[in-house]
Amino acid sequence: MELHAKVTRVALVGAGAVGSSFAYQMTTAGLCEELVIIDVNKAKAEGEAMDLNHGTPFSSSPMRIWAGDYSDCKDSEVIVITAGAPQKPGETRLDLVAKNALIMKEMMRQIMESGFDGIIVVASNPVDIMAHLAWKYSGLPKSRVFGSGTVLDTARLRQMLGEYFHIDSRNAHAYILGEHGDTEFAAWSNSRIYGKTIDELLAEDDLYSQKDLDQIYINVRDAAYHIIERKGATYYAIGLGLVRIVRAILGNENCILTVGAHVDGQYGISGIHIGVPAIINRQGVREIIEFSLTEEELKKFHHSAEVLRQTMEPVLH
Ligand code: NAD
Ligand code: LAC
Repeated sequence: MELHAKVTRVALVGAGAVGSSFAYQMTTAGLCEELVIIDVNKAKAEGEAMDLNHGTPFSSSPMRIWAGDYSDCKDSEVIVITAGAPQKPGETRLDLVAKNALIMKEMMRQIMESGFDGIIVVASNPVDIMAHLAWKYSGLPKSRVFGSGTVLDTARLRQMLGEYFHIDSRNAHAYILGEHGDTEFAAWSNSRIYGKTIDELLAEDDLYSQKDLDQIYINVRDAAYHIIERKGATYYAIGLGLVRIVRAILGNENCILTVGAHVDGQYGISGIHIGVPAIINRQGVREIIEFSLTEEELKKFHHSAEVLRQTMEPVLH
């Protein structure tokens, strides 16, 4: 009897707070039959795999989880990378660049040695730079190596706008673009809430003001600092964000997510990974969408790109 039918495998590299939150949410997502967890701390990966496996009788579909090694990447459709140092209180994401670049180089060497030929989604910070390095070290096509970009920041914005405008956050269509970090910006000109633009909503009801929206943007931008100050790290929301990206890939969804994709002239920016609206499907990034932005928004986008470019320069070679 043939026991081993073709199954969908996802690999997770990094079994820390973010990786294990992602893995936990994968056990209820019904997206793959196999999840392999790889971490330099093998005992941690083993412990997570044991604990997660014991929950699978409660899952929506069968799943096998194990602590593996890089050779297991070969048969994976998608690899999610969450390995690396997180920020300490007071540190910015960009402060992590030197340590995490070294880790990324070593991880990519081992992943590619396995014969892996799928899609890589990076979450380790600074995520736009780490995604770019992963792409560069892997030699895979640009469409198949990208970061979680501003997926989390866009979710934060939607949640806060949903509360402000008293509407389900899934119906608050608004986007954070640029660096996943301090220079990100809200693309207000492309927002639609109950089908209305922000300008229309502000003109209609003096309950709402641009001042409040500016404060919402600041709360989104600084959300990670507020959480890290209180509980040391952020992981649940990014875990769900990563599941959302994997679902878009494996489900060949062709949905728009603000991932950190490689730009080639879109928005007048080239040669880096940065948060942009992109169509995600089984190929990875099928296409980057070019919103028409205001001049002020474009200026913020270019500033964000410049900060990423300058931060990446010392670790590029
Ligand atoms: P953590 O310290 O809890 O976990 C990191 C894990 O990486 C550890 O288990 C560690 O053993 C492992 N690791 C370190 N070096 C490794 C290597 N060479 N190979 C394999 N595994 C290795 O950290 P965390 O809180 O899970 O955060 C992980 C990363 O995710 C950080 O860089 C953090 O800033 C980032 N993050 C990104 C987002 C986002 O929106 N993109 C959100 C939250 C956190
Ligand atoms: C975040 C991480 C720290 O929660 O990048 O935004």
